[in-house]
Amino acid sequence: MRRKIVAGNWKMNGSRDLSEELVGYIRSEAETLDSGVEVVIIPPAIYIGDVLKQAHKLLSVGVQNVGQWQSGAYTGEISSEMAKDAGCRYVLVGHSERRQLFGETDELVAAKVSRVLSSGLTAIVCVGETLDERESGQAEAIVAAQVRSGLAQVEKGDWQNVVVAYEPVWAIGTGKTATSMDAQAMHAAIRSVLKNMGAPAEEISLLYGGSVKADNAAALFAEPDIDGGLIGGASLVAEDFVSICRYFPAGT
Ligand code: PGA
Repeated sequence: MRRKIVAGNWKMNGSRDLSEELVGYIRSEAETLDSGVEVVIIPPAIYIGDVLKQAHKLLSVGVQNVGQWQSGAYTGEISSEMAKDAGCRYVLVGHSERRQLFGETDELVAAKVSRVLSSGLTAIVCVGETLDERESGQAEAIVAAQVRSGLAQVEKGDWQNVVVAYEPVWAIGTGKTATSMDAQAMHAAIRSVLKNMGAPAEEISLLYGGSVKADNAAALFAEPDIDGGLIGGASLVAEDFVSICRYFPAGT
């Protein structure tokens, strides 16, 4: 079902103390948030147990990456099955930092998406163009190709466990955000690609990510095809993250 989601991707940041502080604050505010908004915390994997203990079912928890295998001799990797076993609901797949710094290809993204779906977790699949690709007018084609290939192996009954996050690479951690109009246009394009793939496009949540802050979230979340946000830097500041969670227009 299409739902409103605000997910905080802590990346390789934090500590046990910071986890306690952030999750404690978010939890204390959770009851004042619109109950229709699902708040997801995506900490470094090593802190998942701490975060889950504090999250008390008011918040969902995810991992930032998994291996494409179920188990075995893959030193340093964790599997989606393990993330599920630990109590996670979400897995980020194909974040642009994984694509750019760790060489993740569309094929690998597709393999990880399949693994995540077969473990019963929800994949938040990240797509987005670079600045060069945007400036040369290819943004929509690039993003459409990432959606088609990353989700090529999704089986009919699994779409309910797919979320797509559009994160223009040039907007991540740079303070530059796509205008709400540009973001809406790309989200509408992604929804039509999904429709053409035979997916229940209207039911799939599409998140925007890339320098979402307390002062631009309201405009982004007011757009009809933007169902929430994937928040990096601002998710490490408790008050900012909670303010972003409050920015869904009432009753939507
Ligand atoms: P940012 O990161 O909010 O710091 O730009 C977003 C992301 O990478 O998911």
